[in-house]
Amino acid sequence: MSGFAHRHLLGIEPLLASEIEHILDTAEGLREVLDRPIKKVPTLRGKTVVNLFYEASTRTRASFEMAERVLSADSLSIATATSSVQKGETLLDTAKNLEAMNPDMIVVRHGSSGAALFLSRHCRAAIVNAGDGAHEHPTQALLDALTLRQKKGRIKGLRIAIVGDILHSRVARSNLWLLTKLGAQVVLCAPPTLVPPGIESLAPVTWRIEEAIEGADAIMMLRIQQERMSGGFFPTTREFHQRYGLTLERVRRAKKDVVILHPGPMNRGVEIASEVADGPYSVILDQVTNGVAVRMAVLYLLLGGEATA
Ligand code: CP
Repeated sequence: MSGFAHRHLLGIEPLLASEIEHILDTAEGLREVLDRPIKKVPTLRGKTVVNLFYEASTRTRASFEMAERVLSADSLSIATATSSVQKGETLLDTAKNLEAMNPDMIVVRHGSSGAALFLSRHCRAAIVNAGDGAHEHPTQALLDALTLRQKKGRIKGLRIAIVGDILHSRVARSNLWLLTKLGAQVVLCAPPTLVPPGIESLAPVTWRIEEAIEGADAIMMLRIQQERMSGGFFPTTREFHQRYGLTLERVRRAKKDVVILHPGPMNRGVEIASEVADGPYSVILDQVTNGVAVRMAVLYLLLGGEATA
């Protein structure tokens, strides 16, 4: 088994398949701590982590904070809405000022693609990308993979449909890298207006959801990111649901043991029907549980001794 010789986690694209497997194996091992009556181990005692979120988050931020507490790291979270970012302070100045307090890691979410890479070039602390623009969301793809491995026993050879707003989705990009590196067969499905140019060189694209989900072992629905849409990418949310929404009727035409994933937050009745989100095929809350284990693994591997230069 390969180790993990990176100082930062900026994306899935730079990782080897063996490194991804190593993170997943580490997360499997650490998951057991979350089932203990006392969910605390001293692994990262004395380490300090800053969570710097320029965009809204429930799952990612809460699970990083929980992972940091379980591993006994000291952590603080900066919500930029109440920080000096509101007075015009730049990302670099903010990071440099936080770094003057000597944290060991900065977990950053930012609306611009490349923000995490930018910080990694200017900071001594380890940088973890918690989502940068439409570029990558590596820990989301890792928790999705952990969930698929638990439910399906493997990733290699699975047929996985990724459906919805691919254009704006960092989740889709990270998953595309991860799933193809681990040997899954990925098919993408979106209206033509929500397909990024050139993506068809990485995976086949269809505009028909029935074609995408036929024979799929897993269907990963994406959130319609209305906050990133300035123009009319589709006529109405009602029409989007009719053409691309995952309904129970469509799920019934997929494999009997298909699993449904969604990174959250969901637009119920738009990309996914409530009866699917809350139904027996859904593993959406398993994804959230696995998010804590994956973030524990990332913290451990970057701060706990395995990281090298
Ligand atoms: N999946 C995800 O990133 O959710 P949050 O935006 O709530 O962190």
